[in-house]
Amino acid sequence: MAQPLYVYLQRPDTGEWVTVGRYLLTKGSSESMGSFRYAPSYLAAGHTWSIDPINLPLMAEMEFAAPRYDGLPDALRDACPDAWGKALIERAYGVPSGAHESRYLLLAGNADRWGALAVGVHKKPSIAALSAPRLAQLTDLVLELHAIAQRQPPKHAALRKRLLGTPSLGGARPKATVVETLANGEQNFWLVKPALLGDAADIPKLEHACSLWASAAGLFAAPTVYEVVGDKETSQISTLRVLRFDRAAGRRLLTLSAASLLQAEYPAATKEQTARWSYPRLAEELKRIGAPIEDRQELFARMVFNAVIGNDDDHPRNHAVIWQQTHKRWRLSPSFDVVPSLDDTPKQLSMQLCLGRRDISRESILMDVLRFGFVNQTEASDFLNRLLGRIEHGFDEVRGLLDAPVSALMETRLQRNLTLLRA
Ligand SMILES: Nc1ncnc2c1ncn2[C@@H]1O[C@H](COP(=O)(O)OP(=O)(O)OP(=O)(O)O)[C@@H](O)[C@H]1O
Ligand SMILES: [Mg+2]
Repeated sequence: MAQPLYVYLQRPDTGEWVTVGRYLLTKGSSESMGSFRYAPSYLAAGHTWSIDPINLPLMAEMEFAAPRYDGLPDALRDACPDAWGKALIERAYGVPSGAHESRYLLLAGNADRWGALAVGVHKKPSIAALSAPRLAQLTDLVLELHAIAQRQPPKHAALRKRLLGTPSLGGARPKATVVETLANGEQNFWLVKPALLGDAADIPKLEHACSLWASAAGLFAAPTVYEVVGDKETSQISTLRVLRFDRAAGRRLLTLSAASLLQAEYPAATKEQTARWSYPRLAEELKRIGAPIEDRQELFARMVFNAVIGNDDDHPRNHAVIWQQTHKRWRLSPSFDVVPSLDDTPKQLSMQLCLGRRDISRESILMDVLRFGFVNQTEASDFLNRLLGRIEHGFDEVRGLLDAPVSALMETRLQRNLTLLRA
């Protein structure tokens, strides 16, 4: 990349866009070197928002080297697409698979970018104000996502163009954003995740049920809506909508993934990287960035919930934090993408439950509890026992939603894991 990329931030207080810094990439023969620096104008204005309090603390005159993602700073990697968005960019722009992350970053466009960051080649922020499709277009949107996934020609040319122009959200499954305008004029932004043809079960329904289940157990899950779109003559497609926590009152909210907080790559190519994926370490990082103790205990509860339901796709890009301007502090985001594996009951999670251990067991859950803010083993053990009770009863509220084979599988898994995890 010959020219620098400028990074913009939508100010958490006024909503105005400002240039927060610039990113430079120098390509070497085998690897690239990247660095980020806060803009002198940003620092001179006295802004106090760091875009990544772990890797990019606010410091004048500091050129921060980017040690991961082949020279892309973690916070910018969070604003990049993953498998789904990258595949769209490769198709739309003829980008070779495996191109440098910075190409995907720029081509993904700012219109639907995760969090409150945007990028561009100009010093002054210029953010394309593309409006998201309306909720009323949900069926067309889902049919178009399916057409893209199956490499079919457009069914709805304008929506196809919109989807190919906004592939910046992460994750592997097809997705898009719709906006719902409420009676009072406020807008809700929903992440749309339809079923896929090859799915072994109704995954949107399962994800919805797990979100309700987590809430019933007292956890803080992103609100979801499940619906079947389309009509009988064409096709009916199960679809999940998840309320976007990085949008509120027409603004973008500053976010950061757990991967960034853990200084770990996701997806990871090496064991050294996956060794950094850890719940107790994430709890410590939450403390370090000033999140309250409730967030560490909520994280502990999510770890236990994932263990009980068998969600072993709990990787560090499936956890995040969000900047809360009213209290001027970072908070754990609501939980999202919590879906049990439908293969054999997982014996391990993706992230470590205690130092060096991923196994789903009472021992590993209770090994590192001080890091989650518990005062001692007894307090954590009592918390765990009560939580397991709430998770057990929470299932009663959602079992009826699930299709019979999935409900039976989850019932068996629940009882087995409760036995495993109870004292
Ligand atoms: N409710 C939400 N609000 C804001 N951002 C979200 C929300 N849910 C997901 N995201 C963002 O979108 C990304 C992709 O979403 P999600 O994890 O649900 O997709 P996926 O394709 O199922 O992912 P995976 O590849 O982990 O299976 C997340 O990593 C996160 O950055
Ligand atoms: Mg995910």
